[in-house]
Amino acid sequence: MIYFDNSSTSYPKAPGVSQAVAEVLERGSFNINRGGYASAYEMSGLALDTREKVAELFDASTGREVVFTGGITQSLNIALKGLLCPRDHVVTTQMEHNGVIRPLAQLQDLGVHVDVARCGSDGKLDLADMESKITDQTKLVVMTHASNVCGTILPIREVGALCRKRGVLLLVDSAQTAGVIPISMSRDNIDILAFTAHKGLLSAQGLGGLVLSQQIAEKMTPLIAGGTGSHSHVADMPNELPDRLEAGTLNLPGIVALSVALDYINEIGIDTIYNHEINLLSRLSEGLNGISGVDIVGPESITDKCAVAALDFVEMDNAEVAARLDEEYGIMMRCGLHCAPIAHKALGTFPRGVVRCSFGHKNTEAEVDKLLLALRNITGAK
Ligand SMILES: Cc1ncc(COP(=O)(O)O)c(C=O)c1O
Repeated sequence: MIYFDNSSTSYPKAPGVSQAVAEVLERGSFNINRGGYASAYEMSGLALDTREKVAELFDASTGREVVFTGGITQSLNIALKGLLCPRDHVVTTQMEHNGVIRPLAQLQDLGVHVDVARCGSDGKLDLADMESKITDQTKLVVMTHASNVCGTILPIREVGALCRKRGVLLLVDSAQTAGVIPISMSRDNIDILAFTAHKGLLSAQGLGGLVLSQQIAEKMTPLIAGGTGSHSHVADMPNELPDRLEAGTLNLPGIVALSVALDYINEIGIDTIYNHEINLLSRLSEGLNGISGVDIVGPESITDKCAVAALDFVEMDNAEVAARLDEEYGIMMRCGLHCAPIAHKALGTFPRGVVRCSFGHKNTEAEVDKLLLALRNITGAK
């Protein structure tokens, strides 16, 4: 079995992640902020440790600015719906996942004005178009750091600089880059960062989060209201982070597991992980040069992307190629639109989609060679 679908979720996870989940459940996953006993305080301490590690990873000022959610889709909904009101203006890009596009469509129905900045057929953002779409009415720019379809990295720092100049907030979707490409809230001019634990951060599904300042959180209406274990005598959600945006019991096994995964990532180093994955992409790209009938959709240079190859089989049915890779060679890759239909429109692959190969920290050159051999057989290349 060869797993090349790490953009969807990483596999395998960091060493120690599954043990951490099991240990919390077995030793007692006592709730935080809700029990006045030592074990509950201990669990609060573990959660705080994870917040500090997340803050450090993204160069945020304190762990209190880290809010945990059930995943990045939830994070994006909390940020977008908490910030945007009817008649507000928001700009996004053509490379977005439905995690951004669908909440924006709902908000559009409620009277929010949405503009989409153009991307080229290589997935690159047209920065001039983005600049022209930011107006005095714009409240927020929301954009992905990298395309989940073809891996193109988007210029968040440059867009962030434009936003700072115009007094506009920048919300970044780091689903495809957290843990693989360094992100700095301050240097990249990010106001709100949405992240997920189960992709490049190499931890379990069911946990994500937001990193944002107290000042911005106070301007947001909490999308989800409920118990926080604090200020229980009042009906309103508390003002303070993280409680303001964290109603309900948290995924504590997931939070402890994320801490273990972050230790692993720090030990190996983000740059080492990126270089390993990008070397595999380079080997695949070179090997594909010798196989006719396969296009790699996206930027020509691998320095402009993370380790994702969007493969388009010009004379074959892409879905059939993916099915044969799975059934005949045990190679798992995802075919289709990858929840990003407007990205495929920009890339020129809508509605047929592509077969996506996305590398992870444990993939090997031998696995890439097996994929190349399988593709030679399937396409009939010599
Ligand atoms: C760029 C991007 N944003 C958002 C998401 C949504 O992630 P999840 O389904 O884990 O909430 C994904 C998932 O692939 C993604 O690639």
